[in-house]
Amino acid sequence: MTLPLSICEEILASAGFEGLSDATESSHKKRLRVIRDQMRELSSDFAEGISSESRYSMAYFLYNFPLNFMKTLYVFGEISIRRPDFLTPRQRYRILDIGCGEGAGMYGAYYALKSLDGSGNTRLNGIDGSRKMLERARDMAARLRRRGEDLTAGFANRDLTDIRNALPRKRYDIIICSNSLAEIIREETLPNKYIGILLGHLCENGILVIIEPALKKYARRLMQLRDDLVKHKAAQVILPCLHREKCSLLKIDSRDEWCHESVAWKPPAFLRILNKGLNREIDTLKFTYLVIARTKSQHVLPEGYRVISGLLKEKGRMRIFLCTERGRVELVRLNRSKSGKNLLFGRIHKGDLIKLHDIVVRNPDYWEVNFQTVVEIL
Ligand SMILES: C[S@@+](CC[C@H](N)C(=O)[O-])C[C@H]1O[C@@H](n2cnc3c(N)ncnc32)[C@H](O)[C@@H]1O
Repeated sequence: MTLPLSICEEILASAGFEGLSDATESSHKKRLRVIRDQMRELSSDFAEGISSESRYSMAYFLYNFPLNFMKTLYVFGEISIRRPDFLTPRQRYRILDIGCGEGAGMYGAYYALKSLDGSGNTRLNGIDGSRKMLERARDMAARLRRRGEDLTAGFANRDLTDIRNALPRKRYDIIICSNSLAEIIREETLPNKYIGILLGHLCENGILVIIEPALKKYARRLMQLRDDLVKHKAAQVILPCLHREKCSLLKIDSRDEWCHESVAWKPPAFLRILNKGLNREIDTLKFTYLVIARTKSQHVLPEGYRVISGLLKEKGRMRIFLCTERGRVELVRLNRSKSGKNLLFGRIHKGDLIKLHDIVVRNPDYWEVNFQTVVEIL
């Protein structure tokens, strides 16, 4: 996965870093130092629960915008592969981005939809409490339109704490909350009422996409929201979960488990340059997400199991953890059981969907891949 070239160029142009590359880096030395300092400030503020992206908006734009854009692109890719029934072509997509900031979520969705049916034709609406962030979002819309992108965008400066009064009386095909609920709602749980109001602004077959930082607190409250929705049959959770039973990680008493994604991608050169001296793990997108459909339809769930850990390689064996409707399962392949049929076990990544035939169930939560087991990555 890579950042679209047009987005890459417009980020650099908007930030006054046109043509930034390894060869030209030294001529931007002073400003790069300022941006890196701001990135440090942003991280330490984030760790303390302070929202300072508006204050350090240039650093946020250069660093977080591309990452958050890519996370949205990935999630929409997953929807289109696993649940295409929710992204059927429409005359025009109406998208609402809650806490849109500079628009990473809405523009990520726009690019994802464009790659699906080639046309784009999207009405984007963003709401945010920061004028500075909205200015950047507006600027990006103008830039993309000048490039011929088929989008219109409208923005509103509102406080989203009072969600009922902040939303226009309209319905949308897609509502996105990209890294914004973490700031708008500080409580330990996401109020069902708040989410209910968002769902109430979706059209038939519309979806609510929530992406949050990969931190235990935010992941666990999304997991809890998911379980509440499933329990009360209030809406349909369509991803990343593949079953409608209790969350397999919430069932574990230790309360240490949390579901999140780690997706590899190829960051553009400018991010590598920015990252010099900061040494962040920029080639992995880490986040937690939930896609919720308003309609309680009878869509068939995708087959298979979701892999919820990395591949753990140990002496004499490899293992992973799976999310199943009965709970979390440890799946092990001893090295001596490796065969042509289960060869793909060694290539499994976190987040994959896998299918198993002829598995050996040693315990309800401990399964083994033997010589005969067929492993498929879907
Ligand atoms: C971490 S940023 C995420 C921005 C963007 N969605 C993204 O993915 O990059 C959170 C955004 O939420 C906005 N925000 C936080 N609390 C808000 C509130 N109560 N009302 C409106 N906007 C709020 C901030 O101004 C900021 O732009």
